[in-house]
Amino acid sequence: MDQALGLRETPHRREPRNSRQLGAVVLPPVRVICVSSGKGGVGKSNIVVNLACAFDLMGKKVLVLDADLGLANIDVLLGLTPKENISHVLEGKRQLREVLVNGPGNIRIMPASSGVQELTRLTDEQKLQFLQLLDELETDVDILLVDTAAGISDTVLYFNLAAHERVVVVTPEPTSLTDAYALIKVLYTRHGERHFRILANSVHNEKAGKSIFAQISKVADHFLDGISLDFLGSIPNDPDVPRAVLRQQALVEAFPNAPAARAFITIAEKIMKSAPHPNNGTVQFFWKRLLKV
Ligand SMILES: Nc1ncnc2c1ncn2[C@@H]1O[C@H](COP(=O)(O)OP(=O)(O)OP(=O)(O)O)[C@@H](O)[C@H]1O
Ligand SMILES: [Mg+2]
Repeated sequence: MDQALGLRETPHRREPRNSRQLGAVVLPPVRVICVSSGKGGVGKSNIVVNLACAFDLMGKKVLVLDADLGLANIDVLLGLTPKENISHVLEGKRQLREVLVNGPGNIRIMPASSGVQELTRLTDEQKLQFLQLLDELETDVDILLVDTAAGISDTVLYFNLAAHERVVVVTPEPTSLTDAYALIKVLYTRHGERHFRILANSVHNEKAGKSIFAQISKVADHFLDGISLDFLGSIPNDPDVPRAVLRQQALVEAFPNAPAARAFITIAEKIMKSAPHPNNGTVQFFWKRLLKV
């Protein structure tokens, strides 16, 4: 965990630049949003896929990073079959653009599942080479959504610390609440991370979502001094979610009028209306933090 701690101390974090200056062109900052949970199976990958579609419908350029070490979920959810992943780029066998997969709309997916662990073990020279490769993405991304594995492994913590915004998913199951709290607690106590957004998934109604938020926020406020939890909203339990999964389509695409699809649109709009993180919003910056360059 010392490495992850060092990540927070990297000088790049203090760069004041917020917008992206690329030659004569100034672009708005990239928003890097990490979705994690603590407990598995609470809907993270579905949330990432559907928020990606919602942002795409809003005209944003979206890149999804499938950072789940276990099963590559995003591709299965979208019926895609990536042949290569980031590890092939790291081995020098493929160009970065060759491993990106086109999803629905203009969404692109970076399959990282089997390369993520290697990323944290690169030599300094390899890290710089990889960062240079990322340059080509800089003008093509407004939002980078990161789908992490469940739990509080080092890799999950790395992605949470490197991202600009953290969304923690909870469901009405009591274990989802305790596991989400465990994730928040470790990020706060060991790494000083204070800002989290709570997204209640699979809830009966909005009131139930707010009640879950109230519970986690009460405990966090009591035990974690100075923590800042925001309620991002609720996604209803909706039978169209598993139906869309079976079709290997995003819900927002397959059943745009489903209650959960409408909730995803509302949440995407809420995220876009909120101010971006004041840190340096570039794709490179995120990776620099992740790789500790
Ligand atoms: N709002 C919802 N309503 C109904 N079912 C849902 C909802 N959200 C997710 N599900 C179902 O829950 C299951 C798990 O979802 P998903 O794979 O997105 O979870 P995950 O958190 O990414 O899991 P893992 O931790 O294994 O990566 C899926 O079968 C999905 O259909
Ligand atoms: Mg998943």
